[in-house]
Amino acid sequence: MARKNLIVGNWKMNATHLEAIQMTQKLHYRLDPKDFDRVDVGIAPPFTSLRSVQTVIEADHMRILLAAQNVHWEESGAFTGEIAPGMLEKLFVRYVIVGHSERRQLFGETDEVVNRKVKAVLAHGMTPIMCVGETLDEREAGLATERVGSQVPASLRGLTAEQVAGLVVAYEPIWAIGTGRTAAPEDAQEMVGFIRDTLRQGWGGAADETRILYGGSVNPGNIAALMAKKDIDGGLVGGASLDPDKFAAIVRYWV
Ligand code: PGA
Repeated sequence: MARKNLIVGNWKMNATHLEAIQMTQKLHYRLDPKDFDRVDVGIAPPFTSLRSVQTVIEADHMRILLAAQNVHWEESGAFTGEIAPGMLEKLFVRYVIVGHSERRQLFGETDEVVNRKVKAVLAHGMTPIMCVGETLDEREAGLATERVGSQVPASLRGLTAEQVAGLVVAYEPIWAIGTGRTAAPEDAQEMVGFIRDTLRQGWGGAADETRILYGGSVNPGNIAALMAKKDIDGGLVGGASLDPDKFAAIVRYWV
């Protein structure tokens, strides 16, 4: 089955809700309706902007898909500062980034926490974008596949083949995030292919339907070479997604 390409902008902790509205409108203006037939386009603003952006998307019938950057796994309760999956579902959030390396490194998220979040997102009919990736030390020590090969099954433990087929996994080598240092397309393909093999070991043919993205200093100049690789189905874009011109150029990577 053909996997539709997916390019998601992760705005991280940037943009007020007013700026987010403008960024969304500018992005929409720069895209052609036909682009959306070729690639699913998502944006992940901070929580404080989700409602505003959702309203703009709905009012202007945009095909841009709303994504969130994080979620808690519980339905509700005494978890000060957290956001429940049901709250995102009600805002028509389609994708939720789970286990981004910044969450794993700066906020102590373990594979077990990521696994709970993945299940909570699925239970609410949304699609997790589950992130994995090795550090520079791990890569230099030849441990990249070992690291990613343990993150994938641990973060997806207990999922059905059907759930894995509908999932998005993002391979984001930590040394490439925000550094301007992109993985060579061959290296990215090698790791993404390895992730698909790992999925196949656990869930068989479902692995051929899972969309796997590359993330880490994606820009308009390197996206086409990455997209040309057979197992890479899209990109998770940080810094460059804050500029609607750059992000639109990444979405239209074939132009
Ligand atoms: P970057 O971030 O594109 O700024 O490297 C990617 C990410 O963290 O998803």
